[in-house]
Amino acid sequence: MQDKIIDIAREAGKIILGYYHQKNLNVRSKDKTRYDPVTDADINADEYIRKRLHEEFPSDGILSEETKAAPLDYSGRVWVVDPLDGTNEFAQKKDGFSVNIGLCENGVPILGVVYCPLRGELYCAERGKGAYLENRGKYKWLKVSRINLFPKSAAVIKPSDKGNMPLDEIVNLKVKERIEGDSAAMKIMKIAAGEVEFYIDAAFMASKWDTCAAQVILEEAGGKITDLSGQPLNYKCEQPRLKNSFAASNGAIHQKVIAEIRKYL
Ligand code: IPD
Ligand code: CA
Ligand code: CA
Repeated sequence: MQDKIIDIAREAGKIILGYYHQKNLNVRSKDKTRYDPVTDADINADEYIRKRLHEEFPSDGILSEETKAAPLDYSGRVWVVDPLDGTNEFAQKKDGFSVNIGLCENGVPILGVVYCPLRGELYCAERGKGAYLENRGKYKWLKVSRINLFPKSAAVIKPSDKGNMPLDEIVNLKVKERIEGDSAAMKIMKIAAGEVEFYIDAAFMASKWDTCAAQVILEEAGGKITDLSGQPLNYKCEQPRLKNSFAASNGAIHQKVIAEIRKYL
C-alpha cells in the first residue's frame, strides 16, 4: 500500500511542478472573508489524487481539501489529502510546499506520506513500522530530538493573524530560535527530523489534511501531536477544521508546551 501512495504523491508533485515555473499562477482566494489562496495546481493535484485513490481503494472514503464533497462517516477507512499544502509558499516561488496523503482508520491516522517535490524530500510512515525520509535514493530513519527546555528549543509559533488574541502572548515565549516558512506538514517534518522541538498553531485555522499524514510520521519518529489542551486530535468529527487547533512536539517538551498554552486559554 505504501508504494502506491508514494507513487500517487510523486505524480501529484509532478503535476504541481508543471505549474511552478509558469509566470502567471492564477492565484485567487477561495474565501471572500479572508485570504485563502488556491491555484490551478491545487485543483488539478486534488483531482488526480482523488482519481488514483478511488481506482486503488474503491470502498474507502476520501476527504480532500479542494473537493467540497466529504465523507459523513469517519468510522471506516478515510484518506485525508492536502493536494498542495503551502499554497502561499508555492505562489511565492519558494520550495517548502508539499503533497500530504494520510489514511485514517476509525479516526486514527495509520499511514502518511508527505512529499516536497522541489526539495525531493519524501517522508513516509506506517503505524508501528517507523518513519523515514527518502531523498534522491538515500534513506534515513527519522527520530525526534530529546530537548525539553524552551531556551534550548527551535520552535514554530504561529499567532492568530488577528492580533490581540489571548494566545498571542505565547509569541513572547523565550526560545533559542524561531522557525518560519514551509507548509504546515513540512514544519511538522522538521520536528520528526529532530531539527525543531515544537510547533504551536494559535491561528485555529488548521484542518485534518494539514496534520493527518504528518501525524503518523511524527509519532513514528517519537513525537507527539495533540490539540491545544493536550487532547488527541479528533479526526472523526464531521467538520474538516480542527476545532481546537494543534500543538506538535518532540514529545519530551509536550507537557511544558501545553502548560504554557493553558496560561492563556
Ligand atoms: C496552509 C499552510 C500554511 C499553514 C496554514 C495552512 P494551505 O495550508 O500549510 O503553512 O500555516 O495553517 O492552512 O492552505 O497552503 O493548504
Ligand atoms: Ca494545508
Ligand atoms: Ca492545500
